[in-house]
Amino acid sequence: MTETQRCPVVHFDHNSDEHSADPAGSYKRIRDEHPAAWSEAHGGYWVLSGYRTVFDASRDDATFSSARNEHGGEGLSVVIPKTPMHFHIPIEVDPPDFRKWRKLINPITAPAAVERMETMVRHYVTWFIDEIIEKGSCDMAEVIGVPSIVTVDWIGLDPADWKRYAFAHRMVLAAVPGSDDWKQAIEVEFPYINARTWEAIADRRINPTDDMISYFVQQEIDGRPITDDEVFSIVDLLLAGGVATTASLVSNTVVWLYQHQDVRQQLIDDPSLLDKAIEEFLRFFSPTQALARTVTQDTEFHGCPMREGDRVLLSWASANRDPEQFEDPDDVNIERWPNRHTAFGIGVHRCAGSNLGRFMAKEMLSQILTRMGDYVIDLDSLQAYPHQGTNTGWQRIPATYTPGPRILPVPAG
Ligand code: HEM
Repeated sequence: MTETQRCPVVHFDHNSDEHSADPAGSYKRIRDEHPAAWSEAHGGYWVLSGYRTVFDASRDDATFSSARNEHGGEGLSVVIPKTPMHFHIPIEVDPPDFRKWRKLINPITAPAAVERMETMVRHYVTWFIDEIIEKGSCDMAEVIGVPSIVTVDWIGLDPADWKRYAFAHRMVLAAVPGSDDWKQAIEVEFPYINARTWEAIADRRINPTDDMISYFVQQEIDGRPITDDEVFSIVDLLLAGGVATTASLVSNTVVWLYQHQDVRQQLIDDPSLLDKAIEEFLRFFSPTQALARTVTQDTEFHGCPMREGDRVLLSWASANRDPEQFEDPDDVNIERWPNRHTAFGIGVHRCAGSNLGRFMAKEMLSQILTRMGDYVIDLDSLQAYPHQGTNTGWQRIPATYTPGPRILPVPAG
């Protein structure tokens, strides 16, 4: 098969400035006519942008593999282009092997486990808002550091380092590859935080506590103790999954609610609307915009001739705006129900942290709306993530609001 037979070919690159300027518009331009199409960018890849095409591919792991492989370079297999990153378990493992790994993670992210984390999450949200509430002005992106500190603490790493984790995990996906921020993340922050993880793994082998690293080092896999390398692979993925995604969701939501103050008031007046509203914000903003697979065998998929080794981008964000699945997909309807969005993915790799992500988002939005609900954002000074191909969001959200009282006692000293 020649290159020209890979059709239809579209002009599309989810990592381009053109795409970052308007991701939803960029997907819409290809989705309506070509829900599966070939892009020549990054050495060539298929872009799946329709609800049906994304759904079908993500449920067919035998053809659309998540496993780490040599196609398209070295690095994390589920992004295009691949990013230099330690092997991640279980997102880079296919069934049947996948199942034994996911079984280790499910108990620590199930609803009952998240309930046990509620006090900790609430404490951190309260603390972050306490830090700025008396001033009457802040960068709301700082308040949205909550997912980073919660994930780091839960895993058993030093919460004092939360900013370094937030920066590294955001920039590896959201900065332009090769830019200063990207280099700072890859060359400085990741070596630092990775060293902390290795130290913690070695320590918990000897001094187990009740944190997640202690849980993992005590697990067995295939009847033998889990290795340090395997623990690192899981923990590093939990950090990657936990730190940036919920921050992206909440940062997009607070800006949107300022721009739609009638909806903000509705949520302040009736907080019971928040659960459905969060599902709609997940659909509308799709914090993880798109992830990748690799074709395992020559196949014809929705009329497209795919070849073994082809890379494929599955756009959760575009599936979430498909008019064949959602009425008025470009409008936010906070009471939309049913809402079968794809923001957490589909199939066996569906997000392991969805319960925690939802709970952190709800607690942050509840407290922001209750304690600083009249916030005004300086829209001219907003700073977006430089690169919106994988995570969209705001890294600077200058805001003012009526000052209020702290809730937690001021720390001594
Ligand atoms: C709004 C918040 C979140 C969003 C939008 C999100 C999105 C996603 C998506 C789309 C996937 C599918 C990956 C694939 O199919 O290749 C995924 C997987 C995953 N997520 Fe999340 N995520 C969120 C929060 C979290 C949190 C808080 C954690 C952990 C603390 C987490 C941990 C994971 C893990 C471990 C996987 C891999 C699951 C597997 O391969 O079986 N996520 N997430």
